[in-house]
Amino acid sequence: MKSKLLASLVCVAVALPAWAADVTYLKDIKPLIKAQCGECHGDDAPTLHEFDLDPEKYKKEKLGPRTSTYETLLQLVGWPDAGALMRRLDDGANSGDKKPGNMYKNLGETEEERATNLKLIKAWVGEGAWNLNRWEKRGDVPAVTKEQLDRLQLKY
Ligand code: HEC
Repeated sequence: MKSKLLASLVCVAVALPAWAADVTYLKDIKPLIKAQCGECHGDDAPTLHEFDLDPEKYKKEKLGPRTSTYETLLQLVGWPDAGALMRRLDDGANSGDKKPGNMYKNLGETEEERATNLKLIKAWVGEGAWNLNRWEKRGDVPAVTKEQLDRLQLKY
């Protein structure tokens, strides 16, 4: 019994990084973001800088910053809006108040689908790179560190 449990643990520990290293933007993330987020973050949505010029206008139109290309999506991961993707999509496991981010619900119809899609996006961002920190410290949220940024994978 003990050895069986140990064997399955070893199996998971070995299998996960191999699977995670395989996640790419083109193959996995682009189609996922298009399907789940495209309605409000698609090609006709404002770029992050356009959005920031008049957020209230775009919110009324139910448009968020564009995430339909690798480059626009990365602006919400690394710079200038460090950690925005993580803060909005986290299921609550990493947030101080344990509440999911307000875009988490868009990850799928069911809790199972949301969990699977979150796992995929986390693997793409990079093991150990998933944190909710900002570029600059704000309130209780610390600034992201170079060490944390070094863990980003974001394979194209
Ligand atoms: C029904 C429309 C809608 C859908 C679907 C949607 N979003 Fe959003 N999103 C918005 C709007 C509107 C905002 C801006 C208001 C706000 O900050 O909550 C926003 C904001 C965001 C932000 C914050 C951007 C910033 O600059 O801080 C992120 C990150 C985000 N969305 C990611 C996603 C992801 C990833 C998905 C898909 C899993 C998604 N959203 C699905 C409408 C949507």
